[in-house]
Amino acid sequence: MSSTIVLTGIKPTGKVHVGNYLAAIKPALRMAAEPGRTSLFFIADYHGLTFIQNNEEFRELTYGIAATWLALGLDPEHTVFYRQSDVPEIFELSWILSCLAPKGLMNRAHAYKAIVDRNGMLGADADNGVNMGLFTYPVLMAADILLFQSDLVPVGKDQIQHVEIARDIAELFNRVFGETFKLPQYAVDEETAVIPGLDGRKMSKSYNNTIPLFEPAGTLHKLINKIKTDSTPPGEPKNPEDPPLFALYKPFASEAQIEVMRASYANGISWSAAKQELFQAMDAFLEEPRRKYEDLMADPAQIDAILKQGAAKARALAAPQMDKVRRAIGR
Ligand code: ADP
Ligand code: TRP
Repeated sequence: MSSTIVLTGIKPTGKVHVGNYLAAIKPALRMAAEPGRTSLFFIADYHGLTFIQNNEEFRELTYGIAATWLALGLDPEHTVFYRQSDVPEIFELSWILSCLAPKGLMNRAHAYKAIVDRNGMLGADADNGVNMGLFTYPVLMAADILLFQSDLVPVGKDQIQHVEIARDIAELFNRVFGETFKLPQYAVDEETAVIPGLDGRKMSKSYNNTIPLFEPAGTLHKLINKIKTDSTPPGEPKNPEDPPLFALYKPFASEAQIEVMRASYANGISWSAAKQELFQAMDAFLEEPRRKYEDLMADPAQIDAILKQGAAKARALAAPQMDKVRRAIGR
């Protein structure tokens, strides 16, 4: 019986935050736990290299992503868990795909387009600050996805376009060289499609409004106290739909706690008391993963051993597909 292949990656370009966890990691782990699934989760370290060009930071951030997945419950025995750069087949495939991918498709990719648009506004050269890795980023991502015949790719909303590009490239390859790749689908968790940050905008490293997952409790508390609220005084009813406080509380609270909080909003709970409740819910959830994360970060050899085992499994899965590709192109 063939199982559904679930694959996703995270690039090591910053500390993992609550938005990454709720929108990418949590749904991926939930999907992996369903019967009939083979899951592949990886650290997209060479994608990260397009942004992080300091070796110590690169290494630390890469371990950080690995420790995060493991601390949040990824079971490396039942998941193929690896570091992208340990699987050379991905880069061979990436080159082959780049020989088919139309340049115009890359011009339309949102990360590149955003930089070009910004340069235009600043009156700078269109390609100012763009390296070739950033430009061809979606091709490498297509290789990540297509090499493993992925069916489902859980991602946040902003990554939908990249999964569509992978599909386009797969279709193109199949048309030119015959049926070789499965067409992947993205999976976006609607409820958590956009997690708001401290200022109410999308939580993102780029906006400096994140709540990193594994800060010490004291820092977490301070960050939560910075969450933007309006000036409704204590005693006056508040709207739970106003972002971001209640939206951040819900995923960390039980159904019963959510109902109590909803009633407290109607009864005019003060913003500071609501923040205290949020801190308690988040901290209770994060306490144990935080401890696991810290233990792993103190023992990188353990992380290396886990990733090495994962890379061997990934390469074994990649080898037959890569043979098929090489035969298809006439090598
Ligand atoms: P950032 O925007 O902080 O740079 P990344 O681009 O590294 O985050 O995102 C990693 C994953 O987490 C992607 O699947 C992305 O869609 C998802 N993600 C990041 N921030 C959010 C958010 N605030 N809401 C929903 N999904 C998010
Ligand atoms: N581009 C994704 C991000 O920025 C990371 C990523 C790289 C990825 N390769 C992937 C996600 C393959 C899903 C599948 O978040």
